[in-house]
Amino acid sequence: MLKKKVKSAVNCFCRMFPDAKNIIDVGCREGYSIEYFLKKDKNPLGIEIKMPKKGYPRIDVRGCVVVDDFLGINITPTGTKDAVFSRHSIEHMDTKAFFKRCSEVLKPGGILFIVFPLQQWATLNRGLDDEKEMLSIEDSMSDFFKEPKDFKTTHFGKTSEFGIKPMDIDYLWVGEKI
Ligand SMILES: C[S@@+](CC[C@H](N)C(=O)[O-])C[C@H]1O[C@@H](n2cnc3c(N)ncnc32)[C@H](O)[C@@H]1O
Repeated sequence: MLKKKVKSAVNCFCRMFPDAKNIIDVGCREGYSIEYFLKKDKNPLGIEIKMPKKGYPRIDVRGCVVVDDFLGINITPTGTKDAVFSRHSIEHMDTKAFFKRCSEVLKPGGILFIVFPLQQWATLNRGLDDEKEMLSIEDSMSDFFKEPKDFKTTHFGKTSEFGIKPMDIDYLWVGEKI
């Protein structure tokens, strides 16, 4: 099931940005995205803070995944990646620090493609411990997802609008590095 959801996001990314070749997946966990990006003739680099588990694709794609903290990792040279792809990971990180690191690794015009559960992001990142306290969608995205520093928003909406599974739960935000 998870495999299918990751594949669906990778497929959407590749449809929207066929020319993006050098891609970082932040929080690639089992490495499904890396497997799919390689099949699509891309040059992916997964960054995942946790060690790989036996029996998952990440074991077989050595060299394409770094075990490290994306927020602290030193990637040289900076400003060279075509895109950062990240699915269900931003909500586990400090959003400001995440955007800053993405801005550093991307080249001008580079793409930041984020699939995330908006409610969970707001709950974890904005300190809401009760979902009933959930801000409105517009309020919860106000700081970061309207115009984050260094990025021009190109797409934002429910994943269903873009054909990404699962429908109606997740959101896709895409920005272009200025
Ligand atoms: C919910 S999982 C999502 C995994 C996968 N992208 C997917 O779509 O199923 C979030 C992942 O982000 C990783 N992660 C969280 N903070 C991170 C950081 N600072 N640097 C790298 N990976 C991180 C976690 O270890 C976890 O594997």
